[in-house]
Amino acid sequence: MKFTASCAELSGLKTDSLILPTGSELSNSAKVVNELTHNSIDSAIESGEFKGKSGQVLVLNLPQSPLQRIILLGTDGLSNQRQVKKAVAAACQALNKTQSKTALWVSGLMTDNLEAEASIVAQSVNASLYNYKKHNAEKSPNLEALTFWTTEQSAIQSANSGLRYGAAVGDGMNTAKQLGNLPANICTPSYLAEQAISLGKAKLAKASINTEILDRSDMQKLKMDSLLSVAEGSEEPPKLIVINYQGAKPDEKPVVLVGKAVTFDSGGISLKPGRGMDEMKYDMCGGASVLGVMNALAELELPINVVGIIPATENMPNGRATKPGDVVTSMSGQTIEILNTDAEGRLILCDSLTYAAKFNPDTVIDIATLTGAVISALGKVASGVLSNDQQLANDLIESGTQSADPVWQLPLWEEYDELLKSNFADMANIGGPQAGTITAGCFLARYAKDYKWAHLDVAGTAWVSGANKGATGRPVPLLMEYLRQKSEASSD
Ligand code: BES
Ligand code: MN
Ligand code: ZN
Repeated sequence: MKFTASCAELSGLKTDSLILPTGSELSNSAKVVNELTHNSIDSAIESGEFKGKSGQVLVLNLPQSPLQRIILLGTDGLSNQRQVKKAVAAACQALNKTQSKTALWVSGLMTDNLEAEASIVAQSVNASLYNYKKHNAEKSPNLEALTFWTTEQSAIQSANSGLRYGAAVGDGMNTAKQLGNLPANICTPSYLAEQAISLGKAKLAKASINTEILDRSDMQKLKMDSLLSVAEGSEEPPKLIVINYQGAKPDEKPVVLVGKAVTFDSGGISLKPGRGMDEMKYDMCGGASVLGVMNALAELELPINVVGIIPATENMPNGRATKPGDVVTSMSGQTIEILNTDAEGRLILCDSLTYAAKFNPDTVIDIATLTGAVISALGKVASGVLSNDQQLANDLIESGTQSADPVWQLPLWEEYDELLKSNFADMANIGGPQAGTITAGCFLARYAKDYKWAHLDVAGTAWVSGANKGATGRPVPLLMEYLRQKSEASSD
């Protein structure tokens, strides 16, 4: 997909589809387009077909006019980034239906921030072009090039930088979506490891990527018995994927991203009910989002150091599988009584968090489809964030708002931590029926004491169920926004 910014005369531009954000009061650009097309927009408003309301999309086919087609996008009442993103996504969907090869986006959605508009447009366009092709042959959209149009020459540079950034975020989301959507018989821990290695082969000018795969014997040497206890019941060998992206000076402390990748979560001996169990192929979406971020970082060559750690395993119930009541010693030395083998995410993350300290991190963020309880608390709108550092939590909340990939904070108070008490080990791996997302966070916090850390519970946001079942690519936009802000702050 090719993106360019332009401020050439509108009347001279050729395109299959022109996308025009406007309210019922025509913007200046809309007036120009209206004149070029024999008052087509005025007519659509007069007939009541186009009301200009936030997110409304109306396709005007104009075979007689120099502009073949206008896609009107309503802007009245747009008041936050989430609504903007939804509106842009609706326009992209309409655009793809037209099978256009070229498109012209007339800026006007976020008049005070052209770079952000360019970025959200490029992100949504790339994300909308994703098509799961492995086992079905849906018709792909045809779009090849989009011109982002603005009236001002002085804005071309920031528009181009917004396009470049947004396109990379969209590509990163697509990487995450594809890995999430692949069935668990294809997307195994070994498959994820191969994907990480091929990503590491990207040719970069201003950055480098080194990928290392730790296998079972490496993990045994490191005493990662908590992680290994989850893999015990599966025929698929576990992998610990470590990706080291270096875009800044070597002595700059990295952000470490730890992504849960349970390629299938049957629950283990604490077997899940059958209904909807297929969705547990998505239990690797945290890890997939880390790979998506790495992909976007490599595309942008962002000046920052980021380490991705992805513990990848299945959670299955065979004769060797971990049993409720078993006690394991984690890499940190703390012992865990495994009361429920379905609370496996925290068991693979705790050893990964201990391992993360080896990179002398500035900040550690883990991303995991960790609890069903977060869906009860926040639904499918916001991911949960829990942190031992309020500034970090604030930064993530702000990045979530900016990128329309929102997170909401839950507390990590000692009253919740006390629920993890065990008679037979330092802690149990579950805290009982209440506050499931928080007790999971409290469990992880016990392994993240040596650095600034945040936990993102994306069980509600990483995929959608029902007729449009599929991975969403979240929280790649949030993480990229956080990393971009951070890289800008440190290069100032
Ligand atoms: N992968 C699941 C969390 C999950 C559940 C994600 C439903 C999306 C939808 C996780 O491993 C899990 O099973 N968590 C248990 C924890 C419980 C046993 C304490 C849960 O949430 O039920
Ligand atoms: Mn589970
Ligand atoms: Zn799980």
